[in-house]
Amino acid sequence: MTIGQVTTGTANAPVSTGPLTARVAVLGATGYAGGEFARLALAHPGITLDALVARALAGQELEAMLPGIDPRALAGGGPARVDFDGLLERIEGGTVDTLVIALPHGAWTALLAERPALARAAEGLRLLDLWSDHRDGSAGYVYGLPEAYRDTLLMRLVEGMSGAEIAERSGLTPASVRVNLHRGMKLLREHLGAS
Ligand SMILES: NC(=O)c1ccc[n+]([C@@H]2O[C@H](COP(=O)([O-])OP(=O)(O)OC[C@H]3O[C@@H](n4cnc5c(N)ncnc54)[C@H](OP(=O)(O)O)[C@@H]3O)[C@@H](O)[C@H]2O)c1
Repeated sequence: MTIGQVTTGTANAPVSTGPLTARVAVLGATGYAGGEFARLALAHPGITLDALVARALAGQELEAMLPGIDPRALAGGGPARVDFDGLLERIEGGTVDTLVIALPHGAWTALLAERPALARAAEGLRLLDLWSDHRDGSAGYVYGLPEAYRDTLLMRLVEGMSGAEIAERSGLTPASVRVNLHRGMKLLREHLGAS
C-alpha cells in the first residue's frame, strides 16, 4: 500500500485532539479490493466509513454490494453510496478526511485530470493507494510506510509534538512511540536515500 499527500490541520482534515480516527471514502467500492477494504473498515473502531464511491452506485443495496456482511455493521443506514460528484460534495461537506483508492491502474490520475475541482479538494486529504500508480515512490508518495509510523512521524515532524504529547494523543505507550519514531525514521531515511 502506498500512503501519500498527507496534510493535517486543513479545513477538510482538522487536527484531531483525541484518539486517531479516519473518516473514509472508498473509491472503487464495487470492486474486489474496495469491497474487502470496506468490510475491514466497517469493523475497525478507528474508522468511520463515510462513503462508498463508484461510477454507478445509485440504488444499490449495501447487502448486495457487500455480501455476507453482518447487518449490525450497517446500522443507521451504513455509508453513503455516491458517484464522483457525490464524493466531491461529501469532501466539501467535511465528512471525509481520507480517500482509500481501489481503482484500476491509471484511473485516479485520469479522474484528477478530468475533474479539477476533485483534484483541488483531494489536496487536503490523506490518500491511501491500493492501486499501483505511485509504487515507484514518486510525487511525494511513500511506499509501504506503515500507518503507525506515519502518524507518529507526522505528529513529531509536522506538528512538533513531544513524545509524551504523542503518547497522550495516540493512546500509545511512550515506549511504543519511541519504537515507532525510530523505525519510521529509518524507513524514511531509506526511502529518501539518506544514510
Ligand atoms: N484484487 C486484488 O486482490 C488486489 C490486491 C491489491 C491491490 N489491488 C489493486 O486494487 C485496484 C482495484 O483492483 P480490483 O481487483 O478491486 O479491481 P475491480 O474488481 O475491477 O474493481 C475496480 C473498481 O474501480 C471502478 N472503476 C473501474 N474503472 C474505472 C474508471 N475508469 N474510473 C473510475 N472507476 C473505475 C469500478 O467501479 P465502477 O465500474 O462501478 O465505477 C470498481 O469499483 C487495482 O489497482 C489493483 O492493482 C487489487
